[in-house]
Amino acid sequence: MSGVIRFGVSIDSALLHKFDALIEAKGYTNRSEALRDLIRDSMVQAESELGTKEMIGTITIVYNHHTRELTDTLTDLQHRYFHNIISTTHIHMDKHNCLEVLIARGRGNEIRSIAELLIGARGVKHGKFTLTSTGRDLT
Ligand code: NI
Repeated sequence: MSGVIRFGVSIDSALLHKFDALIEAKGYTNRSEALRDLIRDSMVQAESELGTKEMIGTITIVYNHHTRELTDTLTDLQHRYFHNIISTTHIHMDKHNCLEVLIARGRGNEIRSIAELLIGARGVKHGKFTLTSTGRDLT
């Protein structure tokens, strides 16, 4: 069942003032949109913890391409998980450093493991993994 429902929330006034200041700083123009985003985010978080639904992961890695065997390791991993890794963008940042952003699709726990292998490869200087929803189940 869909349709918009209005509901009241009891909340401590000091907490609400802090929340209002926070959402204003983030650029929200009303509490409802901020609350909807918080609810969606907690649903995505729950999906990622269950690890059963198809999700989208973004993996960002920074490395020096001169590091021995590192580019081979990263390429091998990407071929091993080609069913999951749907896009890779590589940027040569200077003479030595590379940035790669990979987008992976699959069960949350599956793509988290792939991210850990890539980020944990010897020579990767920095890595970040973000999970999001395919959007299918979010209204
Ligand atoms: Ni490069």
